[in-house]
Amino acid sequence: MRLGLFTLLVGAFSLPQGTCGERRALQVPLKQGLEQDAFSVYDDGLFTPLGDLSALSSSQFTRLSHPAFPRHSVRAKQSQFCDGKVRAYTGYIDVEAHHLFWFFFESRRDPDADDVIFWTNGGPGGSGAVGLFSELGPCRVTSANSTEWNPWSWNEHANIFFIEQPVSVGFSYAEFGESVSTTREAADDVAALMGIFFEHFTKFKGRALHLAGESYGGRYIPVFASAIYDKNAELVQAGLTPVNLTSIMLGNGCTDFSTMFPSYYDAQCADPTFPAIQDISTCVRLKQMVPRCEQRFKKSCVDILDKVDCAAAAAFCFEVLTGHYKNPYFYDRSRSCTHEEEMEVCYPIINDINAYLSQPHIQELLGVDPAVRGNYSLTSATVAAAFDASLDWYSFPAQYHVAALLERGVRALVFVGATDFICNWIGNERMTLGLEWTQQEAYRNEPLRDWLVDGKPAGLTRSGGGLTFATISGAGHLVSSSDSVST
Ligand SMILES: *[C@@H]1O[C@H](CO)[C@@H](O)[C@H](O)[C@H]1NC(C)=O
Ligand SMILES: *[C@@H]1O[C@H](CO)[C@@H](O)[C@H](O)[C@H]1NC(C)=O
Ligand SMILES: *[C@@H]1O[C@H](CO)[C@@H](O)[C@H](O)[C@H]1NC(C)=O
Repeated sequence: MRLGLFTLLVGAFSLPQGTCGERRALQVPLKQGLEQDAFSVYDDGLFTPLGDLSALSSSQFTRLSHPAFPRHSVRAKQSQFCDGKVRAYTGYIDVEAHHLFWFFFESRRDPDADDVIFWTNGGPGGSGAVGLFSELGPCRVTSANSTEWNPWSWNEHANIFFIEQPVSVGFSYAEFGESVSTTREAADDVAALMGIFFEHFTKFKGRALHLAGESYGGRYIPVFASAIYDKNAELVQAGLTPVNLTSIMLGNGCTDFSTMFPSYYDAQCADPTFPAIQDISTCVRLKQMVPRCEQRFKKSCVDILDKVDCAAAAAFCFEVLTGHYKNPYFYDRSRSCTHEEEMEVCYPIINDINAYLSQPHIQELLGVDPAVRGNYSLTSATVAAAFDASLDWYSFPAQYHVAALLERGVRALVFVGATDFICNWIGNERMTLGLEWTQQEAYRNEPLRDWLVDGKPAGLTRSGGGLTFATISGAGHLVSSSDSVST
C-alpha cells in the first residue's frame, strides 16, 4: 500500500526509502523578537516600506525585510509574462535557509482596489504553478514555448499570488538539505510572506485577503489562514496594520479523513448525483468495511495519535475502501483513464508546463535562482515522502481550524468538482456538516439546493453562518481547469 498513491500530481512516484526521517522543528523566535529589539528598530524609523510594487526593477531582485519578521526577507522583481496586460512580479521569500518561489499578478480590473488572493496547489509536493498555468491563472501553457491568454483568470477581479511551497517544490529550494515535512512549518513561511508583502506595499494595506487552495490545499489553507490570523495579534500589539484575512476557499480538499474515508463507499456505491460504479457484492463488502475503518482511524489517529497505529489504520482504510478501484479515474469519475497513477496521461498539459518552465530563457525572465536552474518539475516526490513520513495527512484536524476561523468571522467556501473521487463532494459535505462553531445551525438548517448558471443547474449548494458549500457539476479534481467553471 502506498499512501502517496493519492497525492495530487505526485501519483507516479514511489516512496524513496530511508530519506524521510523526522526533522527537528525550527523554533520561531517571533515573540522574543517582538518584545525585544524588533519593534524598537521599527519605532526608530529604520523600516521604510518600499511603497509601490511598480518601483521594483525588472532586471534584478529587490530585497525586502521587516523587523516584525526578523527571520524572513523577500526578493521581488517585475517579470512581464503570461498576462501581458497587467504587471506581473516574481520572487522568493527567504526564510533563513528556505527559499520559496512566488508569482504575483495584478488585477485586470482595478489593482488599487481589488482584493488579494493567495493560491497554492496540494500534493503535498504539488506546485502552485499547476493552478497558474492550467486552471485559474492569466495564461495557459500550450506548448514548451507558448502560452495563451486566459479570459477566465481569477485576476479578472483580484490581485493574485501563486506560490510554490513548501521548499523543494518547483523553483523553491533549501540550503544545507533543509526540508519541511509538516503543514505547520510551511505555514510560518506563508504567514511571513503575507505580512511582509502588506507592510511593504502600502497601497495593499488593509486590503481583503483570501487564501485558496486545492486538494491537499484543503489541509494547508486552514492552517496557513490560522497562522496569519494569530500573527495579527502580534502585529496589532506592535502598532502595525493586521492582515485583513477575509475568507478561505478550499477546492476539492481532502481536509479531514475521518469524513473522507467513509465517503469512498458513497462515491462508489451511493452518490445521488452519479451512478454506482461497483457491483452489488462489492458495494456490500465496502459498506461492511466503513465502520471498521472508522473505528480504527478514530482509535489511533483521532482519540490519540499513535504514529505507527495511525499509519496502519489509514493504510487499512485506503486498502479496503479504494483498493479494488481501478477505473474510472481517481481524479474524475467521468474520465476513463486507465493510468490512474500517472496524471500526465489524463492531463497532458502537465508535461507542457514542465517543459515551459524548464526553458532557460523563461527561468532567466522569472529570476529563478541559479541553485535550481535546469529541468523543472511541478511535483516534488521528496516533499510528498517527507509529509507521508511525518503523518501530516492525519495528525492534525484541519477542520477544527476551519471552524475556528468561521468563529472569528473569516468566511469559508468549500467547493468540489462533483465527479472527483479522491477528495469527493460527499466527504466534503460531511466535513462541513460536522463543523462546530456558534453559527453552525444557520448552515446545517439550510437545504442542499441547486445553483444556477444562465438558468441551468450548475451544482448543489448550501450556505449559512459564513460557510458556503458548493459542488460543480461535470468537474473533477482539478475543478478550475474544467470548462464548466469557466462559463
Ligand atoms: C523556445 O524559444 C527559445 C527562445 O526563442 C529557443 O531558444 C528554444 O529553442 C525554443 N524551444 C523550443 C522547444 O521550441
Ligand atoms: C477588510 O476587507 C473588507 C472587504 O473588502 C472591508 O470591508 C473591510 O473594511 C476591511 N477591513 C479593514 C480593517 O480594513
Ligand atoms: C532534462 O530534460 C531533458 C529533456 O527531457 C533531458 O534530455 C535531460 O537529460 C534532463 N536533464 C537532467 C539533468 O535531468
